[in-house]
Amino acid sequence: MDLYEYQARDLFEKYGVPVLPGIVADTPEEVRAASEKLGGVTVVKAQVKVGGRGKAGGVKVAKTPDEAEAAAKAILGLDIKGHVVRRVMVAGGARIAREFYFSVLLDRANRSYLSLTSVEGGMEIEQLAVEKPEALARIEVDPRGGLDIAKATEIAKAAGFPDELVAKVADVFVKLYAVYTGEDATLVEVNPLVLTEEGDIIALDGKVSLDENAAFRHPEHEALEDKDAADPLEAKAKASDLNYVKLDGEVGIIGNGAGLVMSTLDVVAYAGEKHKGVKPANFLDIGGGASAEVMAAGLDVILNDPQVKSVFVNVFGGITACDAVANGIVKALEILGDEANKPLVVRLDGNNVDEGRRILTEANHPLVTLALTMDEGADKAAELAAK
Ligand SMILES: Nc1ncnc2c1ncn2[C@@H]1O[C@H](COP(=O)(O)OP(=O)(O)OP(=O)(O)O)[C@@H](O)[C@H]1O
Ligand SMILES: [Mg+2]
Repeated sequence: MDLYEYQARDLFEKYGVPVLPGIVADTPEEVRAASEKLGGVTVVKAQVKVGGRGKAGGVKVAKTPDEAEAAAKAILGLDIKGHVVRRVMVAGGARIAREFYFSVLLDRANRSYLSLTSVEGGMEIEQLAVEKPEALARIEVDPRGGLDIAKATEIAKAAGFPDELVAKVADVFVKLYAVYTGEDATLVEVNPLVLTEEGDIIALDGKVSLDENAAFRHPEHEALEDKDAADPLEAKAKASDLNYVKLDGEVGIIGNGAGLVMSTLDVVAYAGEKHKGVKPANFLDIGGGASAEVMAAGLDVILNDPQVKSVFVNVFGGITACDAVANGIVKALEILGDEANKPLVVRLDGNNVDEGRRILTEANHPLVTLALTMDEGADKAAELAAK
């Protein structure tokens, strides 16, 4: 789960990372009040979960409460790469002398953590990595040893911080690493980390991604979730513990096991080329134990997607045998009643497949078509969606 900048700022503060005061606001009036409260120069910043806010006009310096209010009027409602700004943060203004970059992240390929650090701030990190790779210090942080002051000093020196700043930034790196481990994050990024005219090191913009697999250790993280911004179908799926991702096509997909569902998406996309270019409408993995309730919940989510014109159920019976899946489909259609109103193509294979097919044939549901193979099912579902 990605956090908003203001949420990252709050976490940083909790761990003693130096940040500027920040107040969130949803209206120009609130922004004026926040600016009056903070006093002096403030910066009004769009709160959207996408990079490049500054370039898109989403970060504005305001010298007075009047200017802050005007900035809020310009920023609230702004569309930044498809994200409409509903909230801003009014931050204290820093007098910036230099900008730096620091991040620590999960390095899956190396089964380790990685820190990225640069004294060339103000540039997008992806661009820096391509155009000036030598300016980016990539240092592994072994999770067992962690990032202590010695490691932080090594990182600061490798990145080329001037001697007089090394101790100061190393202290901040250690605290940022405490955020990373303490909150079970997969990314903590500060861009820019700044040196002010007064000589202070401050995290001016933070990005934090939390590992949802560790949610059980952090009941307080649930409050950070942005329920309004989530896709309503994805929210519904999540409430039923389903692994669902909404896509842009017309053929709803249900399968068991992530690998099978991924290949089903490919096969349907391929079949769709012959049928007016229809595409998969979603990824939905109902997992191993495909009970009637899980199947009903899955179908319910997919059938409620107005873009969906047909559904392809592609299940390989394993521990949950095909007869149980077939019964699940039949019961799911009963549970859904009139809400089930789009054609379903079902392909079953694996454990107890004959019994599974017999159950579906016997049920003889008007919406259900049986397919013998994955290709045949994909083709049929694409054809029905194109009608
Ligand atoms: N509180 C502040 N005081 C002074 N200048 C600021 C402040 N916040 C941001 N800035 C300036 O604005 C620039 C852009 O800000 P920020 O990094 O927060 O947004 P961004 O990088 O455009 O957005 P994103 O990080 O989402 O790509 C900073 O590099 C910094 O120069
Ligand atoms: Mg930034």
